[in-house]
Amino acid sequence: MAKMWAGRFKKDANAKLDSFNTSLPFDCRLYKQDIQGSLVHSKMLEKQGILSKKDVDLIQEGLHSILDQIESHEIEFTKAEDIHMFIEEKLTNEIGDAGKRLHTARSRNDQVALDIRLYVKEEIIEIQKFLFQILDSLCVAAKSHLKTYMPGYTHLQRAQPITFAHWCMAYANMFKRDIIRLQNTYSLMNECPLGCAALATTTYSIDREYTASRLDFLKPTDNSLDGVSDRDYCVELCSDLSLIMVHLSRMSEEIIQWCSLEFHFVELDDAFSTGSSIMPQKKNPDICELIRGKSGRAIGDLNTLLVMLKGLPLAYNKDMQEDKEAVFDCIDTVKECLDVFIPMFQTMKICKDNMMHACLHGFINATDLADYLTKKGLPFRDAYHIVGQIVGYGIENKKSLNELSLKEYKKFHASFEEDVYQYIDIETCVNNRKVYGGPSPESVSIQIQNIEDFIKQE
Ligand code: ARG
Repeated sequence: MAKMWAGRFKKDANAKLDSFNTSLPFDCRLYKQDIQGSLVHSKMLEKQGILSKKDVDLIQEGLHSILDQIESHEIEFTKAEDIHMFIEEKLTNEIGDAGKRLHTARSRNDQVALDIRLYVKEEIIEIQKFLFQILDSLCVAAKSHLKTYMPGYTHLQRAQPITFAHWCMAYANMFKRDIIRLQNTYSLMNECPLGCAALATTTYSIDREYTASRLDFLKPTDNSLDGVSDRDYCVELCSDLSLIMVHLSRMSEEIIQWCSLEFHFVELDDAFSTGSSIMPQKKNPDICELIRGKSGRAIGDLNTLLVMLKGLPLAYNKDMQEDKEAVFDCIDTVKECLDVFIPMFQTMKICKDNMMHACLHGFINATDLADYLTKKGLPFRDAYHIVGQIVGYGIENKKSLNELSLKEYKKFHASFEEDVYQYIDIETCVNNRKVYGGPSPESVSIQIQNIEDFIKQE
């Protein structure tokens, strides 16, 4: 079939070019945004006296009917250069000449820039909804585990006692920032490129304020060259999404470790675990591993966009068609991961006793023992040195700090008294860390409250 742009050509396009050039297989998902843009554009053309009411009525009716047919699967996306051409061709088939007038004072360059912005804006809201769900789940878990003691780690070595609630709120703060980051991306991109046309606007007297406000943007973009070629928001989105994936991946990594028999801090629900085809005993945390793996896709998508953009002269270049698959893949990946991660986390069983058991080995109350001596008057460095010797003694004699007798303690320093046992009790170690941000139940309750206030205010 002759191309819409065939006028200046003497030959038909080679079939290979057709399939290489088309974006319809992936940009078909922009049909709703494309129609939404055309509905507003045509109304504006009518308001400005550029198109007649009769033509615009036909256009509106035709576009609504195409939308219905796409949604009821009566129309299949076949053979067109892209979704913009596809819809315009369908419209012209349905309503004749009026359809051919729709593209007055517009180009596919501002059209695609608009469609992808509308799409990204909607998806930001959807992803934020998932993030609010995860915040909510983390608060619920934290509230019931304010006194579920576990070792906190540095270098993956047992370091100091914390609680599962404290751990939950660490991730809650990351996801809270993710929500805010998405909000910032949204605010910065909330300008409408429609009316930039190919690159230099148009000689028609169009009303860009009208289309911007009808399409729910704050204002039109200030410069038409920038308007058609800006994809910063795609980069920002994929960067925000990559960080969400990094957070999910770090959390997944911990859960993978915790599912191992070596840790056995948690058990995944059977409904969210997988088995092995050969080893009957296996119960694998595939979801977490896939999320850890898929984080690479999101980071890859971000990279695709940055590399695609970095050498492009102004204004539109066809390279930009490559933005879509990266953006779509990144969005799909994050939504898919959140959708399965949230119920997996909600149904995960916390093995309190095993966490507590781990607290009792590994000398995680050694810092507290040093603090004990410091409070008895020793300089911290001296106390630290003595406790180092006590730990060495404990390792040699296979005794934890709680298991050493007062006589043994006294050999290291005379200031040790009976009250040492209470002081280095794991519960005391946690309760004594009442500092803002710390693991004590009071401190964590404030952290939960802060997240709940954030959820409420949104
Ligand atoms: N399919 C194209 C894209 O996704 C639409 C814009 C095409 N513009 C052009 N002048 N060829 O970028």
